[in-house]
Amino acid sequence: ALISLRQLLDHAAEHSYGVPAFNVNNLEQVRAIMEAADETNSPVILQASAGARKYAGAPFLRHLIEAAVEEWPHIPVVMHQDHGTSPGVCQRSIQLGFSSVMMDGSLGTDGKTPTTYEYNVDVTRRVVEMSHACGVSVEGELGCLGSLETGTAGEEDGIGAEGTLDHSQLLTDPEEAADFVKKTQVDALAIAIGTSHGAYKFTRPPTGDILAIGRIKEIHARIPNTHLVMHGSSSVPQEWLKIINSYGGDMGETYGVPVEEIVEGIKHGVRKVNIDTDLRMASTGATRKFLAEHPKEFDPRKFLIASTKAMKEICKARYEAFGTAGNA
Ligand code: G3H
Ligand code: 13P
Ligand code: NA
Ligand code: ZN
Repeated sequence: ALISLRQLLDHAAEHSYGVPAFNVNNLEQVRAIMEAADETNSPVILQASAGARKYAGAPFLRHLIEAAVEEWPHIPVVMHQDHGTSPGVCQRSIQLGFSSVMMDGSLGTDGKTPTTYEYNVDVTRRVVEMSHACGVSVEGELGCLGSLETGTAGEEDGIGAEGTLDHSQLLTDPEEAADFVKKTQVDALAIAIGTSHGAYKFTRPPTGDILAIGRIKEIHARIPNTHLVMHGSSSVPQEWLKIINSYGGDMGETYGVPVEEIVEGIKHGVRKVNIDTDLRMASTGATRKFLAEHPKEFDPRKFLIASTKAMKEICKARYEAFGTAGNA
């Protein structure tokens, strides 16, 4: 059944677990996530970015998610819009049937320019009023995702601040978070702790100075009843990096957010964990490997099955590690 983000995260808080929110663009990703959820008895958040809507088209995306709800009626599913850049974008998603929207007012309508605190409060508060009137949940974001190593958002395309960011923008302030939640009434708050979107998050395995798990604890201590969201939470599996590179790929050395650090965050109020890159890497690695090992094969379903299986394994591992398993 389709449920709102608030319903799911209230349950997650009550039972001290986190929920991975996987980005979806196509049938294979949706099947991988749902099959993994079915096998582990996990509730699901399927999220679609503006890029996903551009890739698949809004009607296809909506029907893919509705098909998941129809095929697995016993699994609670949140249909979430990732990184909305304006109230208009959020409104269109509500009309499409999304049960949750993210209004990312930390960046302007271009998804690149950092905004003022006042703009963020105002735009988020307006989206909350509109969404709550429709029974739809809202995730807001305070602070800009980006690397504490380089002071940049890291990713070249997609959602991320342009130019250099200073320390105060890269780490969400607990006092400001409390004020933001009070003024906007968001259902969940995305915070900045040094993670960034994409595969190139850290140049070395992260330590506390570049991945500020301690900041989550400070924010949670200040606003214990607010559901926290971690973006840029892919772990960038080294085994998939190796497979991609040994079958013709050329990705550089890079590190993600270790699963055990996310688990530590979940102990301190993190309830939604955004993951896209890990499934992209598993899919690309499995596809490269399959095609290299089966040069005569030309039925796309064969490599898509390998890709789906690889993504499903990642999903199952995250459902188990985050304590989502058993809570559908
Ligand atoms: O926000 C970042 C997600 O990984 C979505 O990426 O905009 O390329 O679909 P995308
Ligand atoms: P990753 O790029 O780490 O998978 O993060 C995805 C994300 O935050 C989507 O909003
Ligand atoms: Na989101
Ligand atoms: Zn994100």
